[in-house]
Amino acid sequence: MSQQQKLWEESIIDKTPLPSGRKRPAGESTTNVVLSSHLGDNAPVFKDILKLYVPEGSTIADVTWGKGAFWKFVEEGTYKTLFTDIQSGVDCRDLPYEDGSLDALVLDPPYMEGLFRQTTGEMAGGGSHAAFRENYSDGKATEHVEGAPKYHDAVLDLYLKAGEEAWRTLRNYGVFIVKCQDEVSANRQRLTHVELINAWEERFYCKDLFVVTRVNRPGIVRLVKQEHARKNHSYFLVFVKRNPEFPKRIRPTATEAKAMGLVAEKGVLTNGVEEPVIDPPKAGSATEAS
Ligand SMILES: C[S@@+](CC[C@H](N)C(=O)[O-])C[C@H]1O[C@@H](n2cnc3c(N)ncnc32)[C@H](O)[C@@H]1O
Repeated sequence: MSQQQKLWEESIIDKTPLPSGRKRPAGESTTNVVLSSHLGDNAPVFKDILKLYVPEGSTIADVTWGKGAFWKFVEEGTYKTLFTDIQSGVDCRDLPYEDGSLDALVLDPPYMEGLFRQTTGEMAGGGSHAAFRENYSDGKATEHVEGAPKYHDAVLDLYLKAGEEAWRTLRNYGVFIVKCQDEVSANRQRLTHVELINAWEERFYCKDLFVVTRVNRPGIVRLVKQEHARKNHSYFLVFVKRNPEFPKRIRPTATEAKAMGLVAEKGVLTNGVEEPVIDPPKAGSATEAS
């Protein structure tokens, strides 16, 4: 343990009784917690996110599986996994799953407009960067469709359409994990993570946000004058599907949790880290407090 950690732990461990004479509430002091900001690859962050938000045994679909890099540190068999990608013939905008059948869904489509060009010659990741194109898209040019969104709007359009499918296939309070990166497109700052959070606000509660910072130093090709900071970080956003009947609720009530099979034998909730809210009063007796 570092000196700084030790000092921090000592400073927060207070064993003196409360002034009322009552014992201090239970709980351990620790620095062994999942953090919101990480330096390095996606895989360790993804593992932490699952640990925090998706209980073992859940059914989880990764709909842009790519090469499965996210799953590097997730032990096989921990979840019921459904892995698809456009490269295996499944479009994340048209999933082969029943309504409300998933506990969690992972979405990581191509995140930059340079991967949505109409010819491969114009696409990002040419020549010696071919591996980049292969890893971050399906490597194909985008078919020209009259009136279809272009550039960053094409990126956003794919996220939003996939979000519709996530909403359809997730059960209420299901977890939607989205990877994205902001970008400068047509000389405009496009904060993709903000655009997504705002667009989905009514359907998904944004429960958490993780920042992943790359270790190596990215450059800019043909820089004349720098206008925006070069992005060297990306995000994992964690959303919870709102219950359309009670959109202000952000976690299931005890009865809802039980009905969805989420309460384990000893009354421990297995769908997340928090206790369910107390069931609201029956209709007619009072309105629900959110
Ligand atoms: C950033 S990569 C995903 C990397 C992946 N998370 C991993 O860990 O390897 C983007 C992926 O989205 C896929 N993709 C692109 N358009 C898609 C679509 N409409 N439906 C499903 N997958 C799509 C690409 O084939 C590519 O594998």
